[in-house]
Amino acid sequence: MSVKRIGVLTSGGDAPGMNPCVRAVVRTALYHGIECYGIRRGWNGLITGDIIKLDEKSVSHTINRGGTILYTARSKEFMTEEGQRKAVSTCKFLGLDSIIAIGGDGTFRGARALSKYGINVIGIPGTIDNDISCTNYCIGFDTAANTAIECIDKLRDTMQSHERCSVVEVMGRNAGYLAMYVGLAVGATAVLVPEEEIDFERDVIEKIRQARFNGFTHYMIVVAEGAGSANDIAAKIKEAIDLDPRVTVLGHIQRGGVPTGRDRVNATKMGYMAVELLLAGKTNRIVCTHEGGFTDVDMDEGLDMKKGIQQMEVDVLAAMTGI
Ligand code: F6P
Repeated sequence: MSVKRIGVLTSGGDAPGMNPCVRAVVRTALYHGIECYGIRRGWNGLITGDIIKLDEKSVSHTINRGGTILYTARSKEFMTEEGQRKAVSTCKFLGLDSIIAIGGDGTFRGARALSKYGINVIGIPGTIDNDISCTNYCIGFDTAANTAIECIDKLRDTMQSHERCSVVEVMGRNAGYLAMYVGLAVGATAVLVPEEEIDFERDVIEKIRQARFNGFTHYMIVVAEGAGSANDIAAKIKEAIDLDPRVTVLGHIQRGGVPTGRDRVNATKMGYMAVELLLAGKTNRIVCTHEGGFTDVDMDEGLDMKKGIQQMEVDVLAAMTGI
């Protein structure tokens, strides 16, 4: 398998750490004497030829920047055969033999489609949702979690002063990994995630009553966006108990900010590894990390895997709440 010219792109929702990852891809490619091109605006850039040559200087001073210098998008056109054929033509025209795609599972499905046309592809998990099953860590999760934690700590100050209940909605699409982690970190009164069956009376009202019985006068309810809307939950709390909860939807604030050290280092290692995999003759793989070690899995197998909230997190939460 020949690797002479690599294209790198970021696709789907941006995640802090994408820039350090692009930087690592570029620097590793150049280190091996391979040319590197940045494809802008995700898969759309490959369709329209929105592509720039990247050199050492192009990625200088990007390791500490949130967002993605390559821009990002969710491409509907690339999901069609016609869109994919256009992308393949661009690859052939520019001599791009390999594509490294940083993003979530939608991004990987795009990469898999491209590999069917003979383009080498490697996926790198980058999403604050942390919902890629074949890896226990996705670039952006740590920064997003810390951003949410910092915001909720601030909220707690005013909730405590006013002896209020707060309902905070955390991103994650259909997954509760971010909400669960953040909920544990902020000492939430209750955490609602889509992976766990929710009994509103038991999981929210009882927890508040118990906390109140034990002398607490403010309550922090963390809800994953996939488990319900914070507004609805606040309304239900108001109806069930004599509280008038305040709602905070953290929203896109969680996707911004300077990447943490953990995100920068993981992103750098993953970007490096993606290029090394190509050089080792591997294609159609996803870079993964488990317990600090880095590995890779087949794209199809990786996309078929399932993961859930760790039972330990559920157990720890049960012990920490309702006291
Ligand atoms: O996948 C990342 C994510 O931020 C999700 O947590 C969220 O549901 C979604 O993207 C929001 O998408 P958009 O940026 O299109 O509003």
